[in-house]
Amino acid sequence: MKKRIVVLASGRGSNFQAVIDSIQEGKIPARCVALITDNPKAYAIERAKKAKIPVTVIDYASFPSREMYERALLSAMQQVNADLFVLAGYMRIVGPDIVRLFPGKMVNIHPALLPGFTGLHAQRQAVNYGVKVSGCTVHFVDESLDGGPIILQHCVRVLESDDEDSLAERILHHEHECFPEAIKLFCEDRLEIVGRKVRIR
Ligand code: GRF
Repeated sequence: MKKRIVVLASGRGSNFQAVIDSIQEGKIPARCVALITDNPKAYAIERAKKAKIPVTVIDYASFPSREMYERALLSAMQQVNADLFVLAGYMRIVGPDIVRLFPGKMVNIHPALLPGFTGLHAQRQAVNYGVKVSGCTVHFVDESLDGGPIILQHCVRVLESDDEDSLAERILHHEHECFPEAIKLFCEDRLEIVGRKVRIR
């Protein structure tokens, strides 16, 4: 049976597009049933419209507090009946109350090899630190910052000539492969969380 995927995105949505494309090409046994965004200007909205995916905008700026925003977000998440929530460039931390309600049902893509360079500007952190290899990580979301069980990682070499933007661009190509691959494994019921590790069957 096809899984019901719901994507959360805040910006340009290129990872969202990679997921849409993989579903349309029949590579992922899933339906993308909704996009939820905190940003009414997100380009991801255009991508959703083109693919005829319903959009829910929960405009963060229109809420008087983070708690009230999260309440609205939770209500939207409960209504969509998702098998999996995909954080594809969702630029906010999902609060612990929400995370606890969807254990093993939320995945994120991060543009670094976790557990290194968590948080924002991971590519900048990698360039500034001087690592020779970086990459991207798809992981389950838990209550820690970018710290949930790791599903897949891709390595990307950091070149002498790299700045934040050039590294981000090369990593992004890998994200577009790695993320759909991890979602495919989930949708095929091939991922098992054992302690803090993910076993791929
Ligand atoms: C990606 O680099 C992703 O790893 C990070 O945010 C960026 C989103 O890019 N979490 P896009 O919106 O998918 O193009």
